[in-house]
Parts: sequence; C-alpha cells; structure tokens
Amino acid sequence: MKRAGDRIAALTCYDFPLARIMDGCGVDIILVGDSVGVVMAGHDTTLPVTMDDMVYHTRAVVRARPAALVVADMPFLSYQVDPRDACLNAGRLVKEAGAEAVKLEGGVAMAETIRSVVTMGVPVMGHIGLTPQSYHRMGGYRVQGKLEDQAERLVADAHAVQDAGAFALVLEGIPQKLARRITSELTIPTIGIGAGPSCDGQVLVIHDILGLCEKYSPKFVKRYAELTPVISGAVTSYVTEVKDGTFPTEGHAFN
Ligand code: KIV
Repeated sequence: MKRAGDRIAALTCYDFPLARIMDGCGVDIILVGDSVGVVMAGHDTTLPVTMDDMVYHTRAVVRARPAALVVADMPFLSYQVDPRDACLNAGRLVKEAGAEAVKLEGGVAMAETIRSVVTMGVPVMGHIGLTPQSYHRMGGYRVQGKLEDQAERLVADAHAVQDAGAFALVLEGIPQKLARRITSELTIPTIGIGAGPSCDGQVLVIHDILGLCEKYSPKFVKRYAELTPVISGAVTSYVTEVKDGTFPTEGHAFN
C-alpha cells in the first residue's frame, strides 16, 4: 500500500460486535491495543494490562473473522525482559488468540527482540515516539522528539525497527515534521497517531472517535460521533419505562 500510495486506515478494537461493524467499513488494520486497559477497564495507564487480557480481547475480535489484518499489542512486561519471553508471548497471541501480527513499543533497545519474534515467523509492528508503556520514564503522556537530539534518536529508532524486520511502524505523539522525515526515509509504512498527515496510515482508538471516552480528549483525536448521549438517552428511557410500567408490554411477552 505504501508503494502504491494507498493510505492505511487502522483502528483499535477490543470486542466481537465492534469488530463485525468495523470490518464492513473497509478498515485495513484492526489493532487490539493495550489501550483496552484504559478505555475498557478504567485504568489510568496501559501498565496493568496482562497477557491474559490481551488473549481474551484478541480472541473476541478474531471471532468476528475480520478481513482486516488483526494486530495484537504485547502488554507491559511481556517482552521487555528478554527476547525469549517476547517469543513465547508473541506465540501465545498468535496460537491461542488468533492474531496475525503483534505490536511492541521501543526502538534501538528492542531491535534484537523484534528480530527474534520476526525470525520465529510472527510479523511485528513497531511503535516509537510517545510510547504509553514508558509513562513513568516520559513523566506522563508528552510529545516526544521536539528537541533536535531526541528527534535524531527517534530517527535512529525508526531505522533500527525497520532493519530488525518489522513490517510497519506506529509513530505516536511526535512533531509532524519529524514524522514526515521518518516516513520518507523508511520503506515500511508508518502509521501515525498524533503525528500529522504525512504518515502512510493513521490509527485512532475506537472509543475516542465514537465519543465514548470522556477521560482524555487529546488534540489529535477527531470525534466522528457522539455516542455517550445516545447511549445515556436509551438507558434513561429504559429505566423510566420499567419504573412507570410502560415496558414490557404484552407484545414483549410469551403466550
Ligand atoms: O494501545 C493502543 O491502542 C495503541 C495505539 C493507539 C497505537 O498502541
């Protein structure tokens, strides 16, 4: 798609019904992100997400048999300690959960790990820039690569990920000029989130584009729907009708 100049549309998804809906809309990549911990489980960061959480949610998405490529995130501590853990856990996401590829965060420091997982036969998507699993090192969710030396380090990270065999690279929370440079230097596609319009593709969190996540609304998110009032309207009507006796009617019952 990069060579043909076709832009790649990726979205996160964590469950069966949304995977079914999304797949009919032409999404190219469904990412079962570890953002599940924040948007579905209510944690403040992605750090508490476990391998079992990722297997459970990836299975639910895979059950929808999407035509889109299903990429499962490797959660914190499932790959950072040594490449052997990374291989075993990436293998679990493929074998037990049905993922077609995995994503992990980090550049130069993760190159050996990426190479091991790719060598084992599991495609890897890289992820650099604002890497949420490094929340404490970054001092919070902050745009990365604003200073020249940081930007040069991110360029080196991008090349290391590509050279290690990754098939694509997520660029999160970096200046658009830097994303443009990395995108033009790499042969693998870049998928941006808060990285401007020059990336080869874009990814957003599904709850953010549907207006279902009240917690954070970062500048880079575009809300394509406001579902919170729709859901709350439906639930309020249900509660009212149960309480005033207008639901159920005889038509909702068996004879
Ligand atoms: O976990 C996630 O959802 C992600 C994307 C937003 C890139 O890593």
